[in-house]
Amino acid sequence: MNQQVLLHKRPQGNISSTDFSVLQTEMPTPADGEILIKNEYVSIDPAMRGWMNEGTTYVAGVALNTVMRAFAAGTVVQSNHPKFKIGDAVQGLTGAQEFAVSNGQNIDACNLALGPLSWHLGILGMPGMTAYFGLIERAKPQIGDTIFISGAAGIVGSTVGQIAKILGCRVIGSAGGEEKCQHLLNLGFDAVIDYKTENLTAALTRHAPDKLNIFFDNVGGEILDAALAHLAWGARVVICGAISQYNNQQFYGPKNYMKLVSARASMNGIIVFDFKERYPEAVVQLSEWLKHGQMQYKEHVVQGLDRFAEALNMLFTGANFGKLVLKV
Ligand SMILES: NC(=O)c1ccc[n+]([C@@H]2O[C@H](COP(=O)([O-])OP(=O)(O)OC[C@H]3O[C@@H](n4cnc5c(N)ncnc54)[C@H](OP(=O)(O)O)[C@@H]3O)[C@@H](O)[C@H]2O)c1
Repeated sequence: MNQQVLLHKRPQGNISSTDFSVLQTEMPTPADGEILIKNEYVSIDPAMRGWMNEGTTYVAGVALNTVMRAFAAGTVVQSNHPKFKIGDAVQGLTGAQEFAVSNGQNIDACNLALGPLSWHLGILGMPGMTAYFGLIERAKPQIGDTIFISGAAGIVGSTVGQIAKILGCRVIGSAGGEEKCQHLLNLGFDAVIDYKTENLTAALTRHAPDKLNIFFDNVGGEILDAALAHLAWGARVVICGAISQYNNQQFYGPKNYMKLVSARASMNGIIVFDFKERYPEAVVQLSEWLKHGQMQYKEHVVQGLDRFAEALNMLFTGANFGKLVLKV
């Protein structure tokens, strides 16, 4: 049998366990030109909250009563496809389910010499690519730049911060709680802001007296406004995400956007999929930095597909500490 997580209803606000149904279904069989993958890890990502909504943003919302869209990593267990053989480690958007049939499109081989399978959903996968290209291509960091990263203890934020350090920036991060803030200092961040207890504006003034050359935003809302008010001349603001807003019916828009004018600054969005053809370059570079101890990677593993809704909610309460994956 195949265990699957289906989107059962669309949340209005916070996610609830009744938004999903977990079913045992017939084992799928691959046709000619297809493979059967046994997923070992399912990635839990903030974007899933948007995918649960009706309508289309950069991708269409997941249809009700179909398998929840998810990146997953696993092993090929049957192959009728010339490019794949039994035992290959692969990852792709194969859904929140134990077994998936695929025609091989958008399924990537995982080179386990570069890192264990689950890492290919994290630092060597989509979130790592987001950090790498979001920083390098959108923020264009220069030696000596001061960068502020919101959501800094997450997989994207902590990777951005560590790359920025390697590239010679002064790095400030915000996160919720003492433990996450201490972790960022251990990773080499120059300063941290606990957004749950500190006044953001006062903290930014203290830690960045010459203001911010780059703001890499994962959170949105009030953090975005505080950072906009603190931009240096020619600053680059990268809008990667706005997790503080995903459960809201209405997004909080920036009030301080006119600061972009006085600072002659720019604000750009990033969608990681636009860099798909360049992923191999980033995977090699990130794995090199990891191998040489220039970067660290932290995972948070939750056991069992039946805990899908609980795990997804952890991203919104901050209960995850590291890249969140479900072990199937
Ligand atoms: N544009 C793209 O292509 C792309 C691709 C991947 C990810 N993203 C975005 O990147 C961001 C980070 O994703 P991730 O995978 O690295 O997740 P993550 O940071 O590992 O996990 C989410 C974290 O967000 C923080 N958070 C939740 N609610 C918050 C709130 N109201 N205010 C402040 N912080 C809050 C929590 O940390 P604390 O405990 O510190 O609060 C939580 O641990 C998300 O916005 C995501 O949508 C964008």
